[in-house]
Amino acid sequence: MKPTVLITGGAGFIGRNVCRKLLLSNCSVRIYDNFLPQIHGINDSLPDDIAPHVELVKADIRDRANLLNALENTDVVIHLAAETGTGQSMYEISRYFDVNVQGTANLLDILQNRKSGSSVRSLIVASSRAIYGEGSYTCPEHGLVIPESRTNSRMSSGDFELYCPECEQVVSLADTDETAPFRPMSIYGLTKQVQEQAILMHARTNELNAFALRYQNVFGPGQSLKNPYTGILAVFSNLARQGHPIDVYEDGLESRDFVYIDDVVEATMRAVMHTGPFVGALNVGTGETVPVITVAQEINNYFGNNSEIRVLGAFRLGDIRHNKASTRRLESVLNFKPLIPFQEGLHKFLAWAETQPLEDKTAYQKSVFELQGRGLMGKGRVYIHADNINITS
Ligand SMILES: NC(=O)c1ccc[n+]([C@@H]2O[C@H](COP(=O)([O-])OP(=O)(O)OC[C@H]3O[C@@H](n4cnc5c(N)ncnc54)[C@H](O)[C@@H]3O)[C@@H](O)[C@H]2O)c1
Repeated sequence: MKPTVLITGGAGFIGRNVCRKLLLSNCSVRIYDNFLPQIHGINDSLPDDIAPHVELVKADIRDRANLLNALENTDVVIHLAAETGTGQSMYEISRYFDVNVQGTANLLDILQNRKSGSSVRSLIVASSRAIYGEGSYTCPEHGLVIPESRTNSRMSSGDFELYCPECEQVVSLADTDETAPFRPMSIYGLTKQVQEQAILMHARTNELNAFALRYQNVFGPGQSLKNPYTGILAVFSNLARQGHPIDVYEDGLESRDFVYIDDVVEATMRAVMHTGPFVGALNVGTGETVPVITVAQEINNYFGNNSEIRVLGAFRLGDIRHNKASTRRLESVLNFKPLIPFQEGLHKFLAWAETQPLEDKTAYQKSVFELQGRGLMGKGRVYIHADNINITS
């Protein structure tokens, strides 16, 4: 029989797309979401193609009574509801712990203590690359190492490299697999670590299936263009469309493993449908990296090159240098590897983004000022113009 699936945070970017796929597979879907204004603005309804086909509970993940009812006759929970801004989490600490950690505790408390027992057989939680911090690197002398986080003094002098913890040589990027230690560098990452550990622990104790899907940088049509605290594709495309300068942090060569939404949906669906016993974490990424400067240039090109790309050497405390996921465990457990190349996904995203209303850039500027005002932004020494990568101190 097809499962009944509860998606917390199901009105968000990943949730809506997973929901569409579940409906196509004839699953019953219940969405639980408080339509956080930072993401949804004033809109508090589901898209027309989804709304008539799902049960919607508009409520906060910390609301015990509503969540208790929503879990009635549920087979699978996909727990996506969360605050998601890495930078913002560094100063809205209580809020991030409250929603992400206490919200997850509320969910597990209900499942564990429900008088009538629970029908839930499988839990899927949206974990993140952020739990690894800098992740894995290779030292020419010591092989695979986990470097310490970068220091402010080095970054302020324009040195963004990572160094071997044993011999201080510069290290090169390696694939980070699921055995890498937890080293989150942001409050957001720490809350994701706690979420996944709590869910996996609950599943082991109660003999449920559980997947902590460590999503890398997810992108695609439908991602929030309103939230200035997360999503560089959304931020850059909004600036490029209006010809405003695009500021890139560090030296622009920092990179991310961008994974297209359809691939994320496929991985999540396979976890939902997985019947064998499994409790553990899986990276959901491509194993490929794209430098942030390339992202800015591609987006600027698409919109007619009207923006100046400024690589200022500034940096955000809590940001990592690179991330590159090992996909080996994903392939072996769910028999799936994300396939959609970044360029292809980017063009689909941009074709959609240009049909959307422009967002005022002041919201983004405010998010930067908030970091600066709290001493969470480092001023760089270097100035590099993107078309001419010369460093002039
Ligand atoms: N998008 C990414 O690149 C990425 C990467 C790694 C992990 N994740 C995780 O995946 C999940 C979904 O991400 P997304 O990109 O769809 O984000 P999103 O912001 O689009 O969706 C999150 C949803 O959660 C809801 N929500 C927030 N606080 C809530 C609360 N207190 N109660 C109920 N609902 C609440 C929001 O209204 C929103 O609809 C999140 O847990 C996020 O941390 C996302």
